[in-house]
Amino acid sequence: MIEPHGGVLVDRFFAQAEESRWRAEFPALPKVVLNRRQLSDLEMVASGAFSPLEGFLTHEEYLRVVRSMHLPSGLAWSVPVTLAVTSEEGARLKEGASLGLVGPEGEPAGLLQLEDRYSYDREEEATKVYRTTDQRHPGVQYVYEQGEVLLGGKVRAFRRPKPSLYADCPASPVESRRVFAERGWETVVGFQTRNPIHRAHEYLQKCALEVVDGLFIHPLVGETQTGDIPADVRMRCYEALMELYYPRDRVVLGVLPAFMRYAGPREAILHAIVRKNYGCSHFIVGRDHAGVGNYYGTYDAQHIFREFPAGELGITPLFFENSFFCTRCGSMATSKTCPHGEEVRVSLSGTVVREMLRRGEVPPEAFTRPEVAAILIEAARSASA
Ligand code: ADX
Repeated sequence: MIEPHGGVLVDRFFAQAEESRWRAEFPALPKVVLNRRQLSDLEMVASGAFSPLEGFLTHEEYLRVVRSMHLPSGLAWSVPVTLAVTSEEGARLKEGASLGLVGPEGEPAGLLQLEDRYSYDREEEATKVYRTTDQRHPGVQYVYEQGEVLLGGKVRAFRRPKPSLYADCPASPVESRRVFAERGWETVVGFQTRNPIHRAHEYLQKCALEVVDGLFIHPLVGETQTGDIPADVRMRCYEALMELYYPRDRVVLGVLPAFMRYAGPREAILHAIVRKNYGCSHFIVGRDHAGVGNYYGTYDAQHIFREFPAGELGITPLFFENSFFCTRCGSMATSKTCPHGEEVRVSLSGTVVREMLRRGEVPPEAFTRPEVAAILIEAARSASA
């Protein structure tokens, strides 16, 4: 199986023996309260999903990541994983101290060994990472709204119970790697999504499945945008689809407990590295991967892979063009395989489909499987009830 990024799967969860000691010492530590995204980042680091990161970026790491998409060690890393606090909070903390990280509900979440406190240039981060300073971009808005000081250093985390929503799905790299090994898969293609799986997604996955041993459907279940379909509804859609349209022994459904940053191209690199950590040898990048609005060109998230020499990332990206159902071909296709014009292609925007579902209308089968549509219509109905 493919090695994790940097060769070693990071594990920053407390071992059981240490955990009780730290729980006892926790009340006496200076505290930093995490928001939900920071808590998710802590979990991503602790589980090794963000290997080789062992904590929140220090100043040197931050600058290298923002400016050159690499860590000082030379390993590729495309999106800063940082812990921001206000300047008042930053001023009362001391480098070298152990800080207690408190979750948004007040629960002990972990520790930060504070190595570094630093200010940063929001405009530079927005321009380089998000390619825009427009604060209507949700990722940019987050950068501008967060505190002025970043805290860097290694973390440790307390284990949290696994949410019942995905109790049976691999959620960490250790779990997915175990499942792939049990299945005897050497090559696995990872599929990132924050949407229900429509026919276009299914097409990309099945094309990829023709050439690798297994498919890892890996929806992001941390926060996405308001208006997106909630994770519990999406999970029901994925399960229905796998049951009815996929060879069960060649597909695993997992979850990625990360937040979307909508950094488009830079996030596609992050998504690929993270899937490598989960044990995937291949990763699907289609059109406008991790994009939002019109901030990125349709294939920018594919072009960025050219900035890394062949083999540097370790995981192999599989690029796909915009896919659609062609009524003349009678099948899913892309412009690489279909000679017909727009007029015979079924292509609906996400907004149109959401509207149809809200009205209780079933979108064409060429767009989405009827069983998936039924789940989405039912969910829209109960949400508005
Ligand atoms: S994303 O933010 O997670 O990228 P989404 O769930 O829509 O959004 O996409 C999941 C993956 O499928 C991404 O790699 C995206 O590029 C790809 N994709 C989505 N729709 C299409 C399509 N019609 N044609 C080609 N690729 C697509």
